[in-house]
Amino acid sequence: MGPGPISVDPRVLRAMAAPLVGQFDPFMTATMNEVMALYRDVFATGNEQTFLVDGTARAGIEAALVSLIEPGDRVLVPVFGRFGHLLTEIAGRCGAEVHTIEVPWGEVFTADRVADAVRRVRPKVLALVQGDTSTTMCQPLAEIGAICAEHDVLFYCDATASLGGNEFRTDAWGLDVVTAGLQKCLGGPSGSAPVTLSPRAVAVVEGRRHVEAGLREPDDEAADEETAGRVIASNYFDLAMVMDYWGPRRLNHHTEATSMLYAARECARLLLAEGMDAAVARHARHGAAMLAGVRGLGLGVFGDTAHKMNNVVAVEIPEKLGPAGGDAVRASLLEDFGIEIGTSFGPLHSKVWRIGTMGYNARKDAVLTTLAALEHALRAVGVAVPAGGGVTAAQESYRDADRAADGLAHGAPDGVLA
Ligand SMILES: Cc1ncc(COP(=O)(O)O)c(C=O)c1O
Repeated sequence: MGPGPISVDPRVLRAMAAPLVGQFDPFMTATMNEVMALYRDVFATGNEQTFLVDGTARAGIEAALVSLIEPGDRVLVPVFGRFGHLLTEIAGRCGAEVHTIEVPWGEVFTADRVADAVRRVRPKVLALVQGDTSTTMCQPLAEIGAICAEHDVLFYCDATASLGGNEFRTDAWGLDVVTAGLQKCLGGPSGSAPVTLSPRAVAVVEGRRHVEAGLREPDDEAADEETAGRVIASNYFDLAMVMDYWGPRRLNHHTEATSMLYAARECARLLLAEGMDAAVARHARHGAAMLAGVRGLGLGVFGDTAHKMNNVVAVEIPEKLGPAGGDAVRASLLEDFGIEIGTSFGPLHSKVWRIGTMGYNARKDAVLTTLAALEHALRAVGVAVPAGGGVTAAQESYRDADRAADGLAHGAPDGVLA
């Protein structure tokens, strides 16, 4: 029940046990095409270039940024947590002139604040995290795409922690490149990074396309001469090459990680069978119950909860416990109850625990069991908590959600419950 990785859906584990085939086997290439189509629906995009980068979510981020950014390009990163700092660091390694704006941890940016910075910096790329697990905040994105389009800025988003559990619309929100990972709301293991690129982003990456010596054919020599852009600094993360491998030409690049391909396919199939909106609603339902439950135990919650991701909550560690007491509670949950919750980074280290309700763990039994165990673990270290306070508050949250859904189903006027 941490902020990811989460318990992998058993159906995904089963899919990963399927026999392996060679990388140009017709089953393999058909599966790759199927995965491209599935992730278009997951990302809510019509982008042809929607595929997997092999590696954890960070591999997707590196591939996106190193393929878009040439040394000296201006990049703007609004930082509202640890992963904004990661985008800053990776863009810097790509040789970008990086500009940052920051809000305190626990807050998000207004669209106006981002727009002002875009006008001032005039970046080639705006790189923004949607859900930053370090703070649990979910940055609203819907108005930012228009700002980028107006100023001819490429809009990149890291949706690793939020995709599948919070509303996400690549095309409707004007995003150019989005990357993710499987180990959060998608319910899979870490090790595969779904990505999508708009035609505008593809044109930028294609402008830097080169074919490796040894694979080159006569037409490639001519095409390479036309490519004015600087060669992408990484071979493994060269998205032009990765697109050639996933595209009809199937130009050899890395050896696609077959078991991860199966995992990614199963994650998407399960989500789409449920329905993306239904999956988001499930995360909202169980996230709200967990939030109510920790409050019912008398615990404080960090940050602006109006902008909290559905799938994770940052719970303030009671001050009297101190860092050692906070660790003792986590250890008791793990050792006595087999439940893992997360610690925190940087300024929040030892101040909050992060409890996730995502992917396969966005379930009522998981929420209630965690709250019951947390109550015991807190009492064991001398924190006075209301008996049954967590489970009762969570149950109430579920009942409220059910009543609201019933009201909607029976056509009650807005705001009036049946
Ligand atoms: C928002 C965000 N971006 C990137 C990452 C890095 O993912 P990975 O560890 O899969 O490389 C994480 C992991 O927690 C994350 O939450």
